[in-house]
This record gives sequence, structure tokens and C-alpha cells, in this order.
Amino acid sequence: MILIKHINDLLKQIKIYKSQNLNIGFVPTMGALHQGHISLIETSCNKHQVTVCSIFINPTQFNNSDDYNRYPVTIEKDIEILEAAGCDLLFLPSIQEMYPPDDPAIIYELGYIETLLEGKFRPGHYQGVCRIVDKLLTSILPHTLYLGQKDYQQCVVIKKMIALKNLPVFVNVCETLREADGLAMSSRNIQLDAAERKRAVGIIDTLTKLKAGITPGDVQQLLQHGINNLTQQGFSVDYLEIADADTLQLIEVWDGQQKAVALAAAFINEVRLIDNLLLN
Ligand code: PAF
Repeated sequence: MILIKHINDLLKQIKIYKSQNLNIGFVPTMGALHQGHISLIETSCNKHQVTVCSIFINPTQFNNSDDYNRYPVTIEKDIEILEAAGCDLLFLPSIQEMYPPDDPAIIYELGYIETLLEGKFRPGHYQGVCRIVDKLLTSILPHTLYLGQKDYQQCVVIKKMIALKNLPVFVNVCETLREADGLAMSSRNIQLDAAERKRAVGIIDTLTKLKAGITPGDVQQLLQHGINNLTQQGFSVDYLEIADADTLQLIEVWDGQQKAVALAAAFINEVRLIDNLLLN
């Protein structure tokens, strides 16, 4: 695996790949890699001649500096994992490299999707995500970008940014990988202590019950029941919502046909977890 820390070196290497007509798959990450990331890397390796991974804890997507400072860092282990998974190139830039002092701040016209769910509770988050993913895509020029369904809204937002910028990239959203008890794999899970880890499964349990209980009609009572359920288990709930699976417009009355997704975000003490489940 080639390890590159500077954009200029990255651009040179991408130029070489392009001159050889090699097809590139790209997996952007913030490190603390887990099986979910590995599965994205492996899927990319199966489909592309070159797989590029980036590890960069992007400061502009954190609206809370404590959250940023606490974000897990496991670089040495990540490098071993990527080598073993068959990744060809790791891009590991510094903050100065990605955000030089003269870097212009672009505003992405994301519309309502950045004002609800994660966007409502983490103002500015998706502008930061778009800013970094745009920079990475424009440098790496992949054929396909691999994203995990666990960050459902992020996938919708990034697709919108790609459409706005007219970038020639296909987005492959891969299924969420789960632990044996159903907890969605996430870099943040290593922040949970043993007792918190046991309780964390409450999120997917609530989403699963919601999926089993949904019938056409007003969904407000069902959602309130889910929120109460999480609160009783000691979660501090940011949101539990049902939304259109494509547009993410929130659904108050479900007609039984509309493709829908249930999405949740809740804290166990200091750790914020998110998850989602397609309902039909
Ligand atoms: O999902 C993540 O890890 C990040 O939001 C991403 C896509 C790497 C951008 O920083």
C-alpha cells in the first residue's frame, strides 16, 4: 500500500493511475476503522483495479470541539487493517494540507436536507462534510465512491453535492454492518464502556419494533412510543423520525406505499449514536 500525506504527491499518483486507464474506487473515512470500513474496502477491491482510502478527521464537520477532540484515533492499527484488506493507496493528510490558510469557504446549496435530522442537531455539519468530500473527490477522481448506509442522511447529502457540482462519480451505498446483537458498527462504539455497550443495542431494538409496528396512517404515536422507550432505557434522544427514503422529507402520515426509512440519534451519556432502518 502506498501511503501519501501531501496533495501534490496524491495528484501525481492519481495521474499515473489515470494514464494507465485504471479504474479507482474510493472509501473516505475518519479512521478508527472497523469491519464496516473493511467491507467497503473489500467491495471496492473486488470491483476496481485501484482502491484508495482516506483517513482525515475533518474539523469542519464537527460543531462541538469536545466531540472533535474525543474522536478516536488508531492510525497504526488502521494502516495494518488497510494493508490486510488490500487497499492500494492511503491518503493521510494533515489539517494544513486540506485547509490551507487561503482556502475559500464554499457554501453548498443543500436546501432543506441540511436543516433536519442530523442537520438540525449538528448545524453546519453537512457543509463541512461536503467541503472535505468535494476536495477529496476532485483530487482522487474515483469512478465510484463507497459510503455506508449507517450514515443515511450523509449519503443523501453527498449525492446532492455531487449532483450540484456535476462530478462524474457513481455512489455505491453499502449495507450497514452490525455486531452480533444488532448494534451498527461505528468508530464511536469504542468510546462506550461495557455497561453503555450493552445498552447501545436499544437503538436498533427500537427501530426494529417501529418497523414491526408501523401501519398506514398517522405515525406520531408510534414515534412517541419509540422515544419514550429509548428514554426509559437511559438514552437522551435527539430524534426518532420516519422520512421518505429518497428525499428525506419527514413523514407524519404514512400511506403504506411510500418508501420510508426510520432514523434515530441518541446519546448514551457522552456518546452519540445514530442508526436507521428501511421500513419497506
Ligand atoms: O463518514 C465519515 O467518516 C465522514 O463524514 C467522511 C465521509 C469521511 C467525511 O469526513
